[in-house]
Amino acid sequence: MKFKFLEQQLTAKRLKGQYRKVAIPAEGLVNFASNDYLGLNRHPEIVSAFQQALTEYGTGSCSASLISGYTPAHRYLESQLCDWLGGERCLLFSSGYSANSGFFNTLLKTGQSQVLFDRLSHASMLSNMFHYPKLCSRFKHNNSADLAKRLNKPSELSSIVAIEGVYSMDGDKGAVADIYHQASAHQAALYVDDAHGIGVLGEQGQGSLLSQFKQLPDDVTHMVTFGKALATQGAAIIGSEELIEFMTNYCSEYIFSTAMSAANAVATSKSIEICQNENWRREKLNELQHLFKENLASELEITESETPIIGVITNDEERTLTIAARLKEHGFLVSAIRPPTVESGRCRLRVTLSSSHNPNEVIGLANAINEVAVMEQQVC
Ligand SMILES: Cc1ncc(COP(=O)(O)O)c(C=O)c1O
Repeated sequence: MKFKFLEQQLTAKRLKGQYRKVAIPAEGLVNFASNDYLGLNRHPEIVSAFQQALTEYGTGSCSASLISGYTPAHRYLESQLCDWLGGERCLLFSSGYSANSGFFNTLLKTGQSQVLFDRLSHASMLSNMFHYPKLCSRFKHNNSADLAKRLNKPSELSSIVAIEGVYSMDGDKGAVADIYHQASAHQAALYVDDAHGIGVLGEQGQGSLLSQFKQLPDDVTHMVTFGKALATQGAAIIGSEELIEFMTNYCSEYIFSTAMSAANAVATSKSIEICQNENWRREKLNELQHLFKENLASELEITESETPIIGVITNDEERTLTIAARLKEHGFLVSAIRPPTVESGRCRLRVTLSSSHNPNEVIGLANAINEVAVMEQQVC
C-alpha cells in the first residue's frame, strides 16, 4: 500500500523511540518476558493431552461454535471453569482480546449501558471506548472515591464497572472488594479481567475473585485467559445464565468467529487440573518474587507489585531499550515497555517471574539489572 500517512506515522514512531518490530528471541537467554507464570508450557501431561486430542478431534474446529465448532471438549471445559470459579455459565473465546472487546462492544451497542473503566485497563477493554466516547469514562486507578463521584451522576443507563484482577504492567492487584462495594451501592455491575490473576492467586489458582465471593454474584462477571499461567490459548467469560445467553445471541465476536480447537480445549482442561493440584508452583513463585526484590538495588524504583509481574522504572524510551539490550548480553530476556502501553515518562522493564525459574537465575537477573540500570542512571 502506498499511502503517504503510513510512512509519516512510522517515522514518527521511530523518532519517539516507540517503533515496534517482531523478533524471534535469541536462543539461550533466560526468559523473564513470558507470562508462563506457573511454568506449565511443555508440561508433559498437557502436551500429551493435546496430542491425544489432536488425533481424536483434528487440528481445527473448522466452524463457529453456533454452527458445528462446539464439541464435548468445549462443553467439559466450560463446566470445569464454572465449578472452579463458582460461576453459573461460561462462554469460550479464541483470545482474551476478543472476549474483552466482544463483551463491551455487545453491551455498548445496545445504547442502554455505560462503562466506567479503571484508568489502567488493558487496551482490549478500552478498544471500544473510541466508538462510544459518550458511554465510556475512566476513573482513577483503584480509586473507589473517584468511581463513586462518577456513579453519582444521574443517568438512565445501566452501569458496568470494569477493572483488572492484577494489572498487567504494574503487577498490583485490583481493589476488587472496595470497587465492588461502590459499584453495587450504585446498582452497577462489575467486570473483572483476570488475565494475570488466574492460576497465580488463590489456593487452587482461582484468581482474584474467589477470595471475595464463594459463588460469583449475579452482578459480577469474571473474564479469564488461557494464554498466560495456563499456557494454552483462548479465554472465557464466566457470569450469570442470562448474561451468557445474551452474549451467545448478540456478541458478534463470538457468533462470527471460528471456535477454539477442541484439542486446545482439552489441553486447557488438563492445565486447569494441574494448576488446581500443584499449589507448590504458586508458593515457589511467591518466594521468587521476594528474592528478586530483595536483591534489587534500593535506588531503583519498582512498581507496587504483589505478583510475579514487577516493573523496574526506566523512564525514557531510549534508556529502556539500551538497558534491555544490555541485559541480553548478560543472558536475560526482559521486555522493554514504552508508550502507548504505559504513560509517557514511565517506561519500564517488565520482569515476569515463573515457577520454572531457579533462585540463581532470579538473583542473576537482579544483579545484572543493578549493574546495567544503575550505571545507566549515573550516565544520565
Ligand atoms: C489484562 C489483559 N487482558 C486481556 C489480554 C488479552 O488476552 P489474549 O492474549 O488472550 O488476547 C491481555 C494480554 O496481554 C491482558 O494483559
